[in-house]
Amino acid sequence: MSAIPQHADLMICVGTLITPNGAERADIACRGGRIVALGALKGRWTADTTIDATGLHVLPGVIDSQVHFREPGLTHKEDLEAGTRGAVLGGVTGVFEMPNTNPLTLWQADLQAKLDAAKGRAWCDYAFYIGGSGVNAEQLQTLESLPGCAGVKVFMGSSFGDLLADDNTVLKRILRHGRRRMAVHAEDEARLKERKSIVEASGDVCQHPEWRDVDSALLATQRIVTMAEDTGRRLHVLHVSTAEEMQYLARHKRCVTVEVTPHHLTMAAPECYQRLGSLAQMNPPVREQRHQDALWEAIRKGVVDVIGSDHAPHTLAEKAKPYPQSPSGMTGVQTLLPVMLDHVHAGRLSLQRLVDLTSAGPARIFGIEGKGRIALGYDADLTLVDLAARRTITNDWIASRSSWTPYDGKVVTGWPVHTIVRGQVVVRDEALVGAPEGQAIRFLETPDKKTSPFELPQPLRVKNS
Ligand code: DOR
Repeated sequence: MSAIPQHADLMICVGTLITPNGAERADIACRGGRIVALGALKGRWTADTTIDATGLHVLPGVIDSQVHFREPGLTHKEDLEAGTRGAVLGGVTGVFEMPNTNPLTLWQADLQAKLDAAKGRAWCDYAFYIGGSGVNAEQLQTLESLPGCAGVKVFMGSSFGDLLADDNTVLKRILRHGRRRMAVHAEDEARLKERKSIVEASGDVCQHPEWRDVDSALLATQRIVTMAEDTGRRLHVLHVSTAEEMQYLARHKRCVTVEVTPHHLTMAAPECYQRLGSLAQMNPPVREQRHQDALWEAIRKGVVDVIGSDHAPHTLAEKAKPYPQSPSGMTGVQTLLPVMLDHVHAGRLSLQRLVDLTSAGPARIFGIEGKGRIALGYDADLTLVDLAARRTITNDWIASRSSWTPYDGKVVTGWPVHTIVRGQVVVRDEALVGAPEGQAIRFLETPDKKTSPFELPQPLRVKNS
């Protein structure tokens, strides 16, 4: 007598799943937003909705741990609805949003306003960073523990917006008041100020990497890593852009994790500035080929933990201002996965390693609850991709309110086809479906933990008889 089939909300049939075990052909059943069965499920499960994943690869949902969605205050550039819509169209199921909005995200009320604004408007799941600054340093441990908070983000060098903490005394106060991994934009403010005259005199965007040079990045990275080690704080260095920092960070991996962006892995100076002008302008800058080569080497050696897009939209009119008045930043959340799949196609990294950088990595280093892998009981966040699909990235496809991408016209191989957030299909056959029902991401962190989080276990003592 055959058993009565179990019923799921959604089934994904015969895709190639990228799981912690490797690539396996299997079905997935989802119920109540979670993965409830994996394996050969035909005849044993029925479902309200079935997606045929024949010929597709099924990845755990992509988590982009660095986006700027500009709401509140700068919604002519981007907002939570359009930003998350771009995310899911690009196969991203979760985002960490940055605090350099207007007002800055410094207090509980600012965080709550973002959580309220995201409700019913966000297409993917989300968490928001609190900005670390001299004004809230002593409250950061409480603030970083609030539901929906991704942690603390510090700007050591000014980039865009008014958030800045470049003074060692302030940085130490921030580092001492918190337990979670702290994210940092590491460029040395004093050196940036000193060197700005180079570009003010020339007005030449090709000199962007000369103004914000290797030492601007390296000095700040060394300074904050040393302070983090002294204070026993875990650190996440965002958008690392130089060979020299990678060499240094490789020696400090016990407490430090590392992000690179698709832009730094894909573009190189001076070509990108000659071709794109200020559309290629971002901070820290896209640099010469030797740096890009070093970032890839750092991926291969395991120094890099995550790929984040640093989606930082500005309108084309703003970008058209004469350099250096043109603001730094470019869109990226929607193109992160297509651009990285194209690198997989070109043989620069394996699909398994990409999943480690875009799903498992963020979950591991930020302590995200129930996301980042295809596993029983985990959230049914799934990104289904066609590794053979050839597509041209165009401005028309970009959902961002700023409506442009530096990759306009780029042909890529590998494309997201369906995006599923907690069992809800939000992109089907490359088109938006359903409704924006994103929720706040949950974290495992126990911020009141007494011991240093990266302390190694004590060696076992052999008892003397
Ligand atoms: O170029 C950048 N622009 N880099 C950042 O880190 C932030 C940003 C922005 O918010 O526009």
